[in-house]
Amino acid sequence: MPQVGLGTWPLADREVEKVVVRAVAAGYRLFDTAHMYANEKGVGHGLRACGLPREELFVTTKLSARSHGYDEALEAYATSARRLDVDYIDLFLIHWPLPWLDRYVDAWRGLVKLFDDGLVRAIGVSNFKPAHLDRVIDETGVVPDVNQIQVSPYTIREVTRAYDADHSIVTQSWSPIGLGGALLSEPAIVAIAARHGKSAAQVVLRWHVELGLGAVPKSVNPERMAANIDIFDFALSDDEIAAISALDRGEAHAEDSDETGN
Ligand SMILES: NC(=O)c1ccc[n+]([C@@H]2O[C@H](COP(=O)([O-])OP(=O)(O)OC[C@H]3O[C@@H](n4cnc5c(N)ncnc54)[C@H](OP(=O)(O)O)[C@@H]3O)[C@@H](O)[C@H]2O)c1
Repeated sequence: MPQVGLGTWPLADREVEKVVVRAVAAGYRLFDTAHMYANEKGVGHGLRACGLPREELFVTTKLSARSHGYDEALEAYATSARRLDVDYIDLFLIHWPLPWLDRYVDAWRGLVKLFDDGLVRAIGVSNFKPAHLDRVIDETGVVPDVNQIQVSPYTIREVTRAYDADHSIVTQSWSPIGLGGALLSEPAIVAIAARHGKSAAQVVLRWHVELGLGAVPKSVNPERMAANIDIFDFALSDDEIAAISALDRGEAHAEDSDETGN
């Protein structure tokens, strides 16, 4: 799986098609969508229009609340594959655990079936905390390949990242640059960026890479999009990584997937 990919929320079908084509030209190979984003058709159009063969591209999508269940997960795959117009999906995720439904383990069994049938290359979850992952693993014996969670220097998610690492689950960060907000003006980050001759966003994305995380930043802007993936020609020192991680505001700053989700 490419370590950096392009997030596609909240782009609509018509816009995302052009954005995907532009991103492929900028070097992106991974595209992150979801049933909930209502843009899988546009992502699929972009993948076909970009000029690269399917096997050089990586598409992630996610099933939503109404697909929590075994049969429902199989149907969700068929719907997403049809919208994307692909004959396999590289990474299929359960978007949120929605513990009040208590059906994510059934949905997970559906994803395992899709993997066993060769329809998806990898399966995973999103917004799962250790307690949710424990249930999935204990009740099915199958460990997710990926857990896509909210991670940025404001929300470093040490507990969930450690759980993922202990179980060889790849952590992939959503909102990795904190939605492009105040994080990018943090003096610690601005100083490190100046030292390396990089932008604040590049330093933050490099921090994800240094921690061994995947990341799916979203940008429609050609310069920012290109810069966000141009982060493999410099390295952060241990002190710089620690200074960025020290911006953590704790779990309370992250979306609580025991309380929210869709
Ligand atoms: N699994 C989940 O539950 C979940 C939840 C949320 C998001 N996601 C995924 O994660 C992706 C990324 O998260 P996100 O979109 O919430 O946040 P993000 O990637 O942290 O930030 C995106 C915002 O930052 C701006 N931006 C991008 N590059 C920048 C740069 N170099 N300098 C300054 N600003 C920059 C973008 O504007 P411009 O486009 O104008 O550059 C956009 O407004 C989503 O698109 C989606 O695919 C998943």
